Amino acid sequence: MTTRLTTLPRPDGQPLGAARCPAPSVQEIIRGDARPAPAVLAHEHYAYLGSDDIDYARYYDQAFFDREMDKVWGRTWQWVCREEHIPAPGDYYVYEVGALSFIVVRAPDGTVNAFYNSCLHRGTKLRASEGVGSAPELRCPYHGWTWSLDGQLRKVPCAWDFPHVDPARYSLPRVRVGQWGGFIFINPDDSAPSLEDYLGVLPEHFAHWDMDQRFVELHMAKELPCNWKTAQEAFLESYHVIETHPQLMYGVGDANVQYDLYGDHVSRFYAALGVNSPHLLEPLDEQELVNRMLVGDRSVLTDDLTVKEGETARIVMARFLRKVLGEKYRVDLSRFSDSEMIDTIEYHVFPNMVLFPGLSLPMVYRFRPLGLDPNRTLFEILFLRPVPDDGPRPEPADVVHVGEHESYASVPGMDPAMGHVYDQDTDNLRAQQQGFRASRKRGETLGNYQEVRIRHFNRTIDAYLAR
Ligand code: FES
Ligand SMILES: [Fe+2]
Repeated sequence: MTTRLTTLPRPDGQPLGAARCPAPSVQEIIRGDARPAPAVLAHEHYAYLGSDDIDYARYYDQAFFDREMDKVWGRTWQWVCREEHIPAPGDYYVYEVGALSFIVVRAPDGTVNAFYNSCLHRGTKLRASEGVGSAPELRCPYHGWTWSLDGQLRKVPCAWDFPHVDPARYSLPRVRVGQWGGFIFINPDDSAPSLEDYLGVLPEHFAHWDMDQRFVELHMAKELPCNWKTAQEAFLESYHVIETHPQLMYGVGDANVQYDLYGDHVSRFYAALGVNSPHLLEPLDEQELVNRMLVGDRSVLTDDLTVKEGETARIVMARFLRKVLGEKYRVDLSRFSDSEMIDTIEYHVFPNMVLFPGLSLPMVYRFRPLGLDPNRTLFEILFLRPVPDDGPRPEPADVVHVGEHESYASVPGMDPAMGHVYDQDTDNLRAQQQGFRASRKRGETLGNYQEVRIRHFNRTIDAYLAR
């Protein structure tokens, strides 16, 4: 079937940033739901931030990258791991970004310490590479200088040769640690605001989303041939759905996604599911929308899924997912609204965390520079599912490394249709990164509304670089 698309009109005479897709807004759509969305969802918070081009050089220039390493990565709160990655004393997680490396350790009293991952003798990394592990003490693999889990110097082989080394002055330098929502964060900047201040509205918005009551069901990592911002920006807007993911238009309101900005560090994307794309000339009816959303699994098409008089596809889907996901993960999902059950709700926390609190698409993304190359990024996708009401927290999944040319659909446990969507996203990025340099025009031109989060993100980078 060929998809016939409308050309949406170009409105005139409105203030810049005021124009919207003429289809029903997310707010109008959720007002038709059976179980109303909470106040943190039932509002809009957009601001027009200008229409100037964004310079391409910021995506590949080494000097710009080096300034980001110092002034962004050296001064912001970044999540390292989940609490459950390091549950017991001695468990540690090594977190690396660019040339920076930190070791985050659970101490015997249960607190979490974070240290620069570099020996005070001759600089060797105490742990060679990123990842999780466990040890009773932190011992350098080169000459064996050893620190306790709270960073006290405990052992120097041939101490007679180091009378100038006073253990009291040779504790491992600390990095600030913060905890929120089951995530552990670090910030290398001792004078930065507290994590709580930094997160702004986030704790309030997530108050009943219980991120600490989720476990890591799947964790994938892929190296991408592009700048970390190139990769991240591909996940900050829905404008690309019509061209990159045309299969999603039967069931996602793409052109009418809502975009919100909160302070310097947080922005949001709020997409209604179970509706037609406003681009479709021949929209599906409500029953067809339900059937289409379940195209991968016909076995679950039962009477439950008939759209009855007065119902919408969204109401039926939310009811169905509340039951199916509730049974699968052994949790009571009755407190969640229809929107929280089915919609794509995506928060960005500067610089590189993307969080989805919704129940059906519960991802977390992270985008980091790899080494000191502005053209390489490590992109991680985690699925965070609810911890069972009646049982222990499942162990966090190990990281699955996906080759650059390997499909996400091939990862065990990954929904193939969704894997295909991520393949479509990442396939654009090499060409975009190369196109930045090939361009005669010197910057990217953004939509005032649909791409405002990209502008917001770059504005915050500029603010950090200017400090
Ligand atoms: S470099 Fe670490 S003990 Fe020598
Ligand atoms: Fe996408």
